[in-house]
This record gives sequence, structure tokens and C-alpha cells, in this order.
Amino acid sequence: MSLKEEIKHNPLPQHVAIIMDGNGRWAKKKGFLRAIGHENGVDALRNIATASAEVGIKYLTVYAFSSENWNRPRAEVNALMALLVSSLRKELKTLTKNNISLNTIGKTDSLPLKCQRELQEVIEKTSKLDHMTLTLALSYGSREEITEATRTLARDVKAGKLDPEDISEEHISHNLFTRGLPDPDLLIRTSGEYRISNYMLWQIAYSELYFTDKLWPDFGAEDLFKAILDYQRRERRFGKISEQLNS
Ligand code: IPE
Ligand code: IPE
Ligand code: MG
Repeated sequence: MSLKEEIKHNPLPQHVAIIMDGNGRWAKKKGFLRAIGHENGVDALRNIATASAEVGIKYLTVYAFSSENWNRPRAEVNALMALLVSSLRKELKTLTKNNISLNTIGKTDSLPLKCQRELQEVIEKTSKLDHMTLTLALSYGSREEITEATRTLARDVKAGKLDPEDISEEHISHNLFTRGLPDPDLLIRTSGEYRISNYMLWQIAYSELYFTDKLWPDFGAEDLFKAILDYQRRERRFGKISEQLNS
């Protein structure tokens, strides 16, 4: 049985999050410029988004540019922003064909205006598509996100609209960029790095983590299915004991 068939026998993760890492090393290994690695990273994302939608994942959230990535050499940042614009233009048809709506999390207002306009257009044009939601984390940093949520709640308290005693986990969740998205069930990181790099710190409290040495441009549908199969073999106990789960 193919992996794709095999994963259909058990519940799928509803929300898969991915830290798409390793484009630079992939390029270096082949003697290419880093930008070529990023271009091949877009191809990998197209494959993974299409495969995810095909098997029935409802939410795919990918880390495309972190708030810390602004500190990369100017030329690389510019190349990434240009790639974002050209990919959005090219991939509208992929999204439409696969019934995928586009969404973003992060401080997208700090992106170049051209990126913002292109994003807005694709988000609007795909807003009614409902088979899967693809969320791009762009200029995203989780600490920044939590800080901003705290600021919003503090303002509400100051204005007398919120009693500090009433602040719940939901108040925090609802003030994060991910408002409306369920928490990720499965978080995948490629390229052999074992860290979270400021990605969805609050939201991954109980996500299953999966690390692979594959560099992002080499990560294909079979690798995704392998990660899902691994996820399906785990027991998510949420603090309980095994015997409590089936009753
Ligand atoms: C991930 O690949 C893409 C972005 C962070 C934009 P990297 O560019 O981090 O690739 P490595 O980690 O240098 O190999
Ligand atoms: C994390 O990758 C961010 C993205 C994949 C967009 P990095 O390559 O920036 O992470 P660190 O800095 O090595 O932790
Ligand atoms: Mg990296």
C-alpha cells in the first residue's frame, strides 16, 4: 500500500505547520546562489500544498519569513521579497485549481508595498475557496505577536473594558495573528535543525513535533506522508494517562 493510501486509515492532523528550512544549504551543496535555493523552495511548497489539499488537510501554515530574517544581507531580503511577488502572481491558478484560500500571519505591514498589494489581491481572489487554508507566516515572530496581544489587552484594561481577573487563555488566543485558526496538530521542521525559531510558541503548546534532515527544496509529498504516518502512530495524551483516553 502506498503511504498516501495508508494515512487514510487514521485521522489526519487537521492543521499542519511547517518550518521550511534549508534552502540556503541546498543551494550551496549544488554550487548555486542562495536565491536559487529559495526558488526551489517555492516549488517544494507548491507540491506540499497540493498534496496536503489532496489528502484532506484543512490548514497548512508555513514559516516563509521570520521577523529575525530581516537581519539577513539586504540582497537576500530583496530577493525573497521579489520572489514573494512573482510567486503570488504565478500561483494564483494553483490555489484556485486546488480550492485553497490564502491567508497570512505576521506583521505584513512591514513588507514592501508591492508585496502587500499582491498578497491582498490573492487573499481576496481566493477568499471563497474552502477546501484548505494555506497560511503564510511573513515577517512573523511569536514573541512579537504575544507582546502585541498583551498590549491590546492592557489597553482594554486601562479603558475599563476588561477586568484583569477575567483574562483567560481565549483572550490571548483571540489577540494573536492566528485568531480563528485551530492550534497545529503537527509541526514539521526540515533541514536537521532542532529548534522552533520563534514560530507559534503559544499555539504549539500541544503539537506533535517532527524533525527531518531533508532540506526544504528536497521535501516532497512522500516525506509529508511519512511525517503524517509518524504523527498517526503517536498517542496524544494531553496530560492524561493512556487508560483514560479510550473511555
Ligand atoms: C529557509 O531556508 C528559508 C528562509 C528562512 C527564508 P534558509 O534560507 O534558512 O536556508 P539555510 O538554513 O540557510 O540552509
Ligand atoms: C526559520 O528559519 C524561519 C523560516 C523558515 C522562515 P531560519 O533559518 O531563519 O532559522 P534559524 O535562524 O536558523 O533558527
Ligand atoms: Mg535556515
